Amino acid sequence: MACAASLFAAVPLAAPVVIFKLTSDFKEDPSPHKVNLGVGAYRTDEGKPWVLPVVRKVEKCLANNESLNHEYVPILGIPEFTQSACEIILGADSPAISGHRKGGVQCLGGTGALRLGAEFLRAWYNGTNNSATPVYVSAPTWGNHNGVFGTAGFTDIRSYRYWDPAKRGLHLQGLLDDMENAPEYSIMILHACAHNPTGTDPTPEEWKKIAEVMKKKSLFPFFDSAYQGFASGDLDKDAWAVRYFVSQGFELFCAQSFSKNFGLYNERVGNLCIVAKDTDNVNRIRSQMEKIARTVWSNPPAQGARIVAATLNDSALFAEWASNVKTMADRVLLMRALLREKLEKLGTPGTWDHITQQIGMFSFTGLNPSQVEYMVKKKHIYLLGNGRINMCGLTTSNLDYVAESIKEAATGSQCQ
Ligand SMILES: Cc1ncc(COP(=O)(O)O)c(C=O)c1O
Ligand SMILES: *[C@@H]1O[C@H](CO)[C@@H](O)[C@H](O)[C@H]1NC(C)=O
Ligand SMILES: *[C@@H]1O[C@H](CO)[C@@H](O)[C@H](O)[C@H]1NC(C)=O
Ligand SMILES: *[C@@H]1O[C@H](CO)[C@@H](O)[C@H](O)[C@H]1NC(C)=O
Ligand SMILES: *[C@@H]1O[C@H](CO)[C@@H](O)[C@H](O)[C@H]1NC(C)=O
Repeated sequence: MACAASLFAAVPLAAPVVIFKLTSDFKEDPSPHKVNLGVGAYRTDEGKPWVLPVVRKVEKCLANNESLNHEYVPILGIPEFTQSACEIILGADSPAISGHRKGGVQCLGGTGALRLGAEFLRAWYNGTNNSATPVYVSAPTWGNHNGVFGTAGFTDIRSYRYWDPAKRGLHLQGLLDDMENAPEYSIMILHACAHNPTGTDPTPEEWKKIAEVMKKKSLFPFFDSAYQGFASGDLDKDAWAVRYFVSQGFELFCAQSFSKNFGLYNERVGNLCIVAKDTDNVNRIRSQMEKIARTVWSNPPAQGARIVAATLNDSALFAEWASNVKTMADRVLLMRALLREKLEKLGTPGTWDHITQQIGMFSFTGLNPSQVEYMVKKKHIYLLGNGRINMCGLTTSNLDYVAESIKEAATGSQCQ
């Protein structure tokens, strides 16, 4: 009996999560020149994480508020949080708000909101078992979309064309054709703004064409909004696409993450915003979501949601937050301008205007896998294999080194 094999002896070791592996490799790298352009988190120009000043202020108020306690919060979340979260994405004047046909569910980050939405759709969207309903993600997309929808039970995950490498921009015609050819009632995952990883969003005119095809084919829009405010620095502008779809009468879901725009990565603050035909539909949907959440996390964490709710519900704090978000967006815009300028000044082969045309936290550099390997192995600059860099990893002190390294990688001088 003593020497019996483990019941888990046959469990294979899973591959590490790429993006977090990159960060641990970076941490272990002793090089003084090392730069982390991998994981999607904001950094100051000193390369440090940033606690938003408005968040610090609200945290202190919460800590001193003796009337708060650590009782369970409702399964669907703190009402003030879900309401104000829906309001910032839909807009205070949304017909879905005045029509009482929106509702929110507090979730564990944007990831949790995507997963809850996926679990619900698999069980209840247009029938009671939709495992075989096609779910479309953009090509390329955030690495976790496939996993989230697959684990929720969807078996037919496809992609629609999005990125045109030749143009280094949106493949609009391919996208429209793929939607036109999708089976009716398919589910479409759409990045609300600051597309990850390409940094390329449709323009309002392009979104209108997308909405037109989606309406014609009865495709369901499931927006993923992880970067509201980060794309343009303007919270309303970054919510344009979601609001346009609502104005066109779609029923839709929007998974909102407050990880980036509040800098609350480790508090897991997300909201699943639901827009349906009427109040009754919203109530029935939320009642089923409550049952799903009950068996997964039961009750959501309070701290992050309290911070967000308190900030959004006070006009002075809200203004301070909007300004903090703009500080982050502006630093990214500055790094884009400086990187492009430096690459062009160095005479780096290729065109670099895409660096300033792309928006949000990421830029799709166009570096190929062997160029990326050169950057990581020889220059200690960590980025994803697809050439995506986090613009926030750039600072005024490492920018020249990064630009020179990109030039070396792009000229192939690494082969000499
Ligand atoms: C496109 C996209 N969706 C969702 C998320 C998930 O965010 P969260 O950390 O809130 O789960 C991210 C985070 O990187 C993202 O880039
Ligand atoms: C403390 O929290 C309670 C309950 O949320 C709230 O009503 C009250 O306004 C808060 N007090 C302060 C000083 O923020
Ligand atoms: C559900 O999907 C089928 C196609 O699989 C379609 O014929 C039907 O009209 C849809 N029902 C609703 C209510 O949308
Ligand atoms: C749901 O549908 C899939 C494919 O159509 C099938 O494999 C699965 O067994 C079904 N599940 C249930 C619970 O009916
Ligand atoms: C705060 O919340 C209350 C109650 O929901 C609402 O009436 C008020 O307009 C909100 N204030 C702001 C500034 O959002």
